[in-house]
Order: sequence, then structure tokens, then C-alpha cells
Amino acid sequence: MRAKQITNVADARRFARRALPRVVFDYIDGAADDERTMHANESAFDDVALVPRMAVGGETPDLTTSVLGTSLSLPVLLAPCGLVRLMHPDGAVGVARAAAHAGTVSVLSTVAGSPVDEVAPAAPGLLWFQLYAPGGRRGAEPLLAKVAEAGVEVLVVTVDTPALGNRERDRRNGVASPLRIDARNAARLGPQILARPGWVYAMARSGIRFSPAHSVDGFSMLSMASSPFRWDDIAWLREQWPGKLVVKGVVAAADAAAAAERGADAVVVSNHGGRQLDGSVATLHALPAVVAAVGTRVEVLFDGGIRRGTHVAKALALGATAVMIGRPYLWGLAAGGEAGVAQVLASLRRELAQTLLLAGCPSVGDLDRSWITPAGFVGGLPET
Ligand SMILES: Cc1cc2nc3c(=O)[nH]c(=O)nc-3n(C[C@H](O)[C@H](O)[C@H](O)COP(=O)(O)O)c2cc1C
Repeated sequence: MRAKQITNVADARRFARRALPRVVFDYIDGAADDERTMHANESAFDDVALVPRMAVGGETPDLTTSVLGTSLSLPVLLAPCGLVRLMHPDGAVGVARAAAHAGTVSVLSTVAGSPVDEVAPAAPGLLWFQLYAPGGRRGAEPLLAKVAEAGVEVLVVTVDTPALGNRERDRRNGVASPLRIDARNAARLGPQILARPGWVYAMARSGIRFSPAHSVDGFSMLSMASSPFRWDDIAWLREQWPGKLVVKGVVAAADAAAAAERGADAVVVSNHGGRQLDGSVATLHALPAVVAAVGTRVEVLFDGGIRRGTHVAKALALGATAVMIGRPYLWGLAAGGEAGVAQVLASLRRELAQTLLLAGCPSVGDLDRSWITPAGFVGGLPET
């Protein structure tokens, strides 16, 4: 498949499904329990309607924005995601390079599968690092030193993972959560893996080996287990980390305020793409209260369910500084490596530009409440 065939995020998902063994596709695509929060994240965008303005010209809209002092060519960042090397040999380096070429930031997860000193040179100034610290503060210290040494200036701390969510697709596929492919389940997974010879070949060429005695090299990922941060740990991190600090994974306004009080520079309104607590509030529904509580003190980033340029515009109109995407770029990566990620970003850029153009909005910085309305007839049909 050629990356150029990806016209939108849904295409990328379809191609990813064809490229990956089901166990890996499900790891990306799945969420906790009945996956209601994941779907709620997506459908919440239908609760907001755009109100386009007419006859204001047709100039090319300005998509540039500034996030934590860094200028970005579009307000879409790549969220931290684990195990990216299982999706394509281009892995985290390919992701970082695609983002940097597009003029935006990518966030490297602690459990991405590639060390920070290998990835940072691919995206100077545009790579952030996301911290999990299952070993507590003592485990975090050496990792922070490595991150700083690699020249990364922004640290993202994910606080929504005191334990891993109940990912039932992974259970059903026989891979314990956290995802693990080893001797015990290799026989069961064999047929679905062999059904994707292109993926097996690519993995083998990139040096990932399946051995009966060991889990896949580098992917036993015990570190993916819980990362139980508390607010005093955030205050401690604030003292340790000289650069910018972002707290990811809040939906309660009080938690955003707690992060701001501990000196965070930004929060990410996120429920981990519905992969943690199923039944928790859709992120778009949580966004306005967070913006009202801390929007003047810290930058408010947003993720969950962004699949179209219109979704980016709606989140920005509700007060987000910028958004992050998770699954969309992973699908692009699986479908076409670095070029696939680039194509997903290009499609969102094109869609966002067209959204603003058709809405008569000159720039992403102009997006505010005046461009949206609750969808449906609020309080019944209006009188005529
Ligand atoms: C396969 C996968 C792995 C993820 N791994 C991490 C991770 O290691 N650290 C983290 O903070 N968030 C992780 N996330 C959550 C994303 O950063 C992000 O919050 C979420 O994907 C956004 O929702 P979306 O996928 O609907 O865009 C992961 C998400 C997916 C889909």
C-alpha cells in the first residue's frame, strides 16, 4: 500500500487493519471494558455544531499556533503511545521525524520501545518526553537525567494510569495486559501473525525476533504496568525538572487546578483514549470546565476522538490551545511507516484549512465560542 492512498484518518485505519496481525491492530484500536468512553470521545463532537460565517473573503487560513513557547505549523501534536515499533519498523524515530517535518511536536512514551537518545536527534526542539515511573521517584531520577541529556525540554507526566485499564480485546487475544507476546501464546497467535507475512518480514528485518523462549525483544514491557503518581510527586517533579512540565490525563477541573498549583505549565484533558476508566466523561464534555478553571493560568491541551479537521476546530473553539492525536497516527504508521504518519497529518491539515475557509474564520487563533453552538434544538423547536 502506498501512503499516498491515505486520504483521511478512516482510510489509515482500514489500511492498518489489513497490514497488522489482529493482536496488534486490537492493541491500538481497543479500549477499556465496553469501549463506551472511547466511542463517547468520538461522538461528543456531534454535540457541537459549527456556525460558519459568510461573505468574508476566501483567504488561506492561518493554522500556525504556539504551544509552550514553540511555534507549530498546525495545532495538532502526536500523543505519547506505547509499543510503536510493533506497528512498523520506522517506529518512534519515524513518528518523530514525520511530526518534525510537518512542523509539529511528537511526544515519546517511556514505553514506546525506543530510547530517548535515539529518537531526539530526529526532531530537534520538537520532541517531548512522556514519563511513566512504575519504580517511583527513584526509578524516575535516572530516566529524567537521560531525557535532559538528550536535549528534550518538555516533560509530560501521565497521571491517569494508577493501574492499567481492563483491555478486553488484549485478554481475548490471549495477550495479558500489558501486551506481551511470548512462548505461551505464540502458538495461539501464530495463525493471525502468519496471515500478515509483510508485517512478519518487516519486523524480522528490523531486528525484532520471535523466540520460543523469550518475549519479543524489548517488548516484555513490564514497565507498562501501573504508574501511580500522586500530587506530591508532581510537586517533586516540578523541582527536579528544569524545563516545561505538562500533566496529562485530567478531566476534573479540580485536578487541572491541582496541576496548576504544583507549577505545571500545561494540562492535557485526556482519558487515555478511553483505555483506562470506561464510563468516564468524554473529553470534549470535560474541556469547558477545565478551561474555565485554569485557562488563564496554564495552557490547556486536549485529546480523545479527534478524527477530522472539524474536530480540531471544535476543540479549539471550546478553549483548547492545541489537540493531540493517538490512534490516527498509529494507524498511519502501521499503514505506511513514517510516510503514513506524514499523510495522516497532511490530511488533518488539509481538512482544518478547509474547515476554517468554509467557516469564514481567518486563523486558528480566532476560534472561540462564537463559532459553535450546541447541536440540536436546545429546549425544543424554536418558535417561528
Ligand atoms: C496504542 C496506544 C498506546 C498508548 N500508550 C500511551 C502511553 O504510553 N502513554 C500515555 O500517556 N498515553 C498513551 N496512550 C494514550 C494517548 O496518548 C492518547 O491519550 C489517546 O490515544 C488519545 O485518544 P485517540 O486515540 O482517540 O486520539 C496510548 C494510546 C494508544 C491508542
